[in-house]
Amino acid sequence: MCRVSNHPAQNIMSIKSSLYTITLVLFSVCLFGNTSCAQQGNKQKVLIVYLSRTGNTQAVAKMINEFTGGDLVELELKTPYPANYQTTVNQVAKENETGYLPPLKTRIDGINKYDVVFIGFPTWGMQLPPPMKSFLSQYDLKGKTVIPFNTNAGYGIGSSFETVKQLCKGCNLKEGFTTTGGKERDAILFVMKDGKEKQVRDEVKKWLKDIGIIN
Ligand SMILES: Cc1cc2nc3c(=O)[nH]c(=O)nc-3n(C[C@H](O)[C@H](O)[C@H](O)COP(=O)(O)O)c2cc1C
Repeated sequence: MCRVSNHPAQNIMSIKSSLYTITLVLFSVCLFGNTSCAQQGNKQKVLIVYLSRTGNTQAVAKMINEFTGGDLVELELKTPYPANYQTTVNQVAKENETGYLPPLKTRIDGINKYDVVFIGFPTWGMQLPPPMKSFLSQYDLKGKTVIPFNTNAGYGIGSSFETVKQLCKGCNLKEGFTTTGGKERDAILFVMKDGKEKQVRDEVKKWLKDIGIIN
């Protein structure tokens, strides 16, 4: 039976009590129920920033985003790299040699609001790509949890994770993730499909659990 009082004050009290109950139930579900509290306001705010030329690192970034929620941002340059692979390799080698930091077109407003920042990049010349060096030099991530992830042609992360550590003083750096991606040199570009995609998604999920980002 549903009784409605004729007294306005009593009705307001009843609405207030219902709202209180609903809030309590929602809070309990979020606290004890599942892993998606990140999107529900009381959990850590996540930013995923990535650099990707042929889509492999982007695919991993999207997988992370599926599991954690948050904002996904692609790093773009004011002056993009050439389409030609070898010309790009040569340009990157020169930039690494001189310490040139290519200006970013991407702007992230209000980076202070994020608690957790994932940063994704391919290995370039066995180093952290110059645009990611630009990002880490431009934005202050002190006090935030910073988590690197990488794809490469099979030669590994090189010095990239170490450089993230050096450029991110005062960050709470967590263990990164790496997997093989394309081999542009041999014209193998995007590989994150079919069996490989499933395998990497499972690995990403396990890694996120291991480092305590999801349950
Ligand atoms: C300029 C350039 C340099 C690269 N240098 C390396 C390298 O030193 N070691 C390596 O394993 N892969 C290297 N690669 C291959 C990429 O790391 C690999 O294809 C990666 O999966 C690409 O990621 P993306 O699809 O997100 O761009 C290089 C690729 C480019 C374009």
